[in-house]
Amino acid sequence: MEEIVVQAEDWVKELLNEEKTGHDWHHIRRVTTIAKQIAIEENANLFVVTLASLFHDLADDKIMPSEAEGIQLIEKWLIEHQVDESTIAEISDIIKTISFSKGATLQSIEAKIVQDADRLDAIGAIGVARTFQYAGAKGHAYYDPTLSVRENMTKEEYRLGKTSAIHHFYEKLLKLKSQMHTNTAQKIAEERHQFMENFLEQFFHEWQSEFK
Ligand code: ADP
Ligand code: NI
Repeated sequence: MEEIVVQAEDWVKELLNEEKTGHDWHHIRRVTTIAKQIAIEENANLFVVTLASLFHDLADDKIMPSEAEGIQLIEKWLIEHQVDESTIAEISDIIKTISFSKGATLQSIEAKIVQDADRLDAIGAIGVARTFQYAGAKGHAYYDPTLSVRENMTKEEYRLGKTSAIHHFYEKLLKLKSQMHTNTAQKIAEERHQFMENFLEQFFHEWQSEFK
């Protein structure tokens, strides 16, 4: 492995130490590993995909004081590590579009791969675990049958906990499979999606105290 990738890993690990909002080092490690596999399958630029994956959550305002500061820090690091200007621009663009403009259409195959990998880590068994951790950290219920599924919650409703971990599956996670950009990610998503469907089915059986 290239020396700079090892240095990038060490830097991210240090910054994410103590991180408990679901953006911990292991999330980054899994996203990077799967993004690299997809990049090979899709003949994308492996170096850009690797560094963009490692840094993809650093510009999140849950981690940095602001998104702009996160991007600045990443660019400074890349300059200090002699990454050429056009590669820095590519990496920086990927992180910006993925973290700020969630609805933006991604242009490069490298950006699509990082987003696919990030989304794959939100589904399947790991996705289930992260969802409950996140809901717990926010003080939301694991399930509240009095609430309806809402696509667009206001910040206030969200703050008041008018959602639940189980609701998050319907509001977002079950939709991710059809939003994958690459065929490689689409294939991986199938199994993870099915796992969530099975989990929800079992959950509601038990919720209603039905015995199979
Ligand atoms: P990332 O930037 O890595 O995609 P997010 O900040 O969007 O992650 O979310 C981190 C984790 O928390 C993901 O697994 C996501 O599905 C989960 N999550 C996000 N919003 C909610 C929510 N309202 N309820 C439960 N889980 C959530
Ligand atoms: Ni992420």
